[in-house]
Amino acid sequence: MSKYPNLLKPLTLGGVELKNRVFMAPMTRGRGPGQIANEEVAKYYAQRASAGLIITEGVHPSKQGVGWLNVPAIFTDEQEEAWKPVVEAVHAKGGRIFMQLWHQGRQAHSDFHDLQPVSASDVEIENSDGLYTSKGKVPYEKPRPLTLDEIKETIEDYRKAAERAAAAGFDGVEIHAANGYLPDQFLQSKTNKRTDQYGGSIENRYRFLDEITEAVLTVLPKEKVGVRLSPNGTFGDMGSPEYRELYLYVATELGKKKLAYVHVMDGLGFGFHELGEPMTLKEFREVLPKETVLIGNVGYTAETAEKAIANGDADAIAFGRPFIPNPDLVERFANDWPLAEPAAPPTWFALDPEKPLSANYTDYPAYQQ
Ligand SMILES: Cc1cc2nc3c(=O)[nH]c(=O)nc-3n(C[C@H](O)[C@H](O)[C@H](O)COP(=O)(O)O)c2cc1C
Repeated sequence: MSKYPNLLKPLTLGGVELKNRVFMAPMTRGRGPGQIANEEVAKYYAQRASAGLIITEGVHPSKQGVGWLNVPAIFTDEQEEAWKPVVEAVHAKGGRIFMQLWHQGRQAHSDFHDLQPVSASDVEIENSDGLYTSKGKVPYEKPRPLTLDEIKETIEDYRKAAERAAAAGFDGVEIHAANGYLPDQFLQSKTNKRTDQYGGSIENRYRFLDEITEAVLTVLPKEKVGVRLSPNGTFGDMGSPEYRELYLYVATELGKKKLAYVHVMDGLGFGFHELGEPMTLKEFREVLPKETVLIGNVGYTAETAEKAIANGDADAIAFGRPFIPNPDLVERFANDWPLAEPAAPPTWFALDPEKPLSANYTDYPAYQQ
């Protein structure tokens, strides 16, 4: 008998039975030179196919949304084609995989596309030492607000990306509305200073995410769509005083859509804004319908994940960093095998062009008894 019976119990998500509740959290790994997925990307995800659900790294739905080196994207035919073998490799091993759609908004940079970054408003990122581009580490740029026409175009980019993800065979998509990326920049008062129908009240600030979700729902059934939120986070220079009221409203509205899941970064180990008591999974569970799976994340261990599921706070837990050096994380939990040493942050991304893509990516072995 495993020590973690609840965590390893199957779960129905979107009408499909998942093998367990150990989900792989979305993690940018920067192993897609030319913004194209490749064999190494397929191998990486296939190695981790025993996860109940894999959520891919953030994948850009448009050129404008790019702000990270070597991320395989999904806004051209070639990019769409390149994801197909990745999905096939995961499915061949019995895994399930959602694509995370990621527009970086003000966290994008002109180095990637010669375009000024866009956001809800022209609020610049402070408290940051910058980002990596082809020219090394550079400061973030001042964003400009999206016009009403551009908001429509951006929503269409998400719809098209979801359509491409479906065509590439993905089991669903996750809309990234966490960590201070574009949808979160609209949600939070810290970054949204608009005076039109997309700014001001919480209802107005939620409108952009609502319209993205509705657009995605025109190409995918609700059982194949999830949304990620980070109510407690500071990542991307975020944190707004109305966070509790805001995210409870957002969760309530998303709940009405009966989506596959809502993915909440409830843990504090990825930065906590300290603007009040952290929001808990319990608060989200209370406003979400039963059929919407609630995923918790950040800093979980097998023990704390087991507890969160056993007491009904979460239906599944997403693990990020533990999946980097433990491709067989599920088997290690099931057999109570030790975990590999955590991977050092400089190895998370492939910043050294001299090294093969496989380095610190697909070269972590499964546990050897
Ligand atoms: C290398 C790395 C890349 C990440 N990239 C993304 C990403 O693309 N999208 C996202 O929503 N979160 C991203 N995250 C956050 C993770 O999904 C997760 O929330 C975080 O690692 C905390 O979970 P953990 O404590 O289990 O690692 C990333 C985290 C790491 C360590």
